[in-house]
Amino acid sequence: MANVAVIGTQWGDEGKGKVVDIYAEQADVIARFQGGNNAGHTLVVGGRKTILHLIPSGILHENKICIIGNGVVVDPSVLLEEIEQLRKGDLFPQNTKLMVSERAHLIMPYHRSIDQAREAHNSGKKIGTTGRGIGPAYEDKAARTGIRLIDLYDEQSFREKLHRALEEKNFLLKGLFGQKPLDENEIAAEYLGLAEKLKPYVADTSFVLDRENKNGKKILFEGAQGSQLDIDYGTYPFVTSSNTAAGNASCGSGIGANAINKVVGICKAYTTRVGEGPFPTELHDEIGEHMQKVGQEFGATTGRKRRCGWLDIVLVRQAIRISGVTDLAITKLDVLTGLDKIKICVGYKTPAGDYTHAVPADIRILSQCQPVYEEFPGWKEDISPARKMDELPPNARKYLNRLEELAQARISLVSVGSGREETISLRDPFRD
Ligand code: GDP
Ligand code: IMO
Ligand code: MG
Repeated sequence: MANVAVIGTQWGDEGKGKVVDIYAEQADVIARFQGGNNAGHTLVVGGRKTILHLIPSGILHENKICIIGNGVVVDPSVLLEEIEQLRKGDLFPQNTKLMVSERAHLIMPYHRSIDQAREAHNSGKKIGTTGRGIGPAYEDKAARTGIRLIDLYDEQSFREKLHRALEEKNFLLKGLFGQKPLDENEIAAEYLGLAEKLKPYVADTSFVLDRENKNGKKILFEGAQGSQLDIDYGTYPFVTSSNTAAGNASCGSGIGANAINKVVGICKAYTTRVGEGPFPTELHDEIGEHMQKVGQEFGATTGRKRRCGWLDIVLVRQAIRISGVTDLAITKLDVLTGLDKIKICVGYKTPAGDYTHAVPADIRILSQCQPVYEEFPGWKEDISPARKMDELPPNARKYLNRLEELAQARISLVSVGSGREETISLRDPFRD
């Protein structure tokens, strides 16, 4: 029996939500460990679509423990809204528990304001963030000026921390960005009110994970974003502000690294990216348009059109290396149906004329790299009813076989549609 981490191997939106929802059936505990409501994880169950931003994608299942770990930055009003929406839709089973780490850092109104003001101010240099205050909240965590969930339950100390933070933030908002300063009392009243409502969910989640783990329960760690958005290994500075690699499942949830036994890397059968930054295999032609339209590639958080291109195995291999991916889940294979030819980028020609399998650390070099492709014949058959590998057309199987060979990681799941059941399951990562 194993605990499993699910992570994105590209630029996010690989279909982590769908796969976590499927694996959650077998799991007892589902835990988010990084990111915040920049994430948008989509589940389609019985034709009904649910998009989760903060709450783990196991929430639709009966009898689970869903944890928002200490490594997540929590916008309390977003969390409460999400809880309310799920309850209203009758999607939050009575016997499933939701817990938020008391150590999680809060996204404050000034984090959102600064995030958005910076993006507007840096015209031409923007990152294309989700504007949810993620970066500024992690900055305060590292600067040791952050406010944690637990701080809301000691009013005097919370007010002192808020006062100190606002001195600096209002200086920035007014002085640099020419915006109206934020009101301390208004924020205090809002957050103290939210704290009361959140109280039933606040817990020492590291303790809960340890207890469940020792009791032989199965834990599923749910990553957000993707490897190329990792703050260390992504296309810096066009990244998010946390480590998206599987190692962070340990730090971000407060459990030892040896509790993570398997790592499933989610890999879209092509590549997408939202926001700015280099993207070597990006397509600006009718094939890119096909992927965008057929794949309905719009951001689940901001609604922005996702940029699309061929699968880049150089990037995926890096993700496999830095996260110790043991199994791959290939998603959205159905979106490639109908294309005459399909390509996989297997290496880059660098601006110096060399051929490389490595991802250059310097994004100026990466953005000048020319992808070197292998080409495959496509297929025309509708593959969404396939539930077994041998129900896929031979050319789809050839594509997957070569992908597996190039990635040097075994494929354990293939997704052929957005629905929970539109899945070819090859093995259960908790068992084998
Ligand atoms: P996440 O952030 O990694 O959870 O992914 P998103 O939910 O942001 O984006 C993935 C999108 O693709 C969602 O709209 C899913 O419903 C959809 N999706 C997931 N798997 C498949 C698949 O195999 N085929 C198709 N056509 N859509 C899929
Ligand atoms: P899920 O979990 C895709 C991108 C933003 C931007 C960059 C920084 O749904 O895969 P941020 O708001 O984090 O400071 O933005 O990261 N980004 C995502 N792209 N999927 C996500 O999450 C993302 N979360 C952030 O578009 O380029
Ligand atoms: Mg998403």
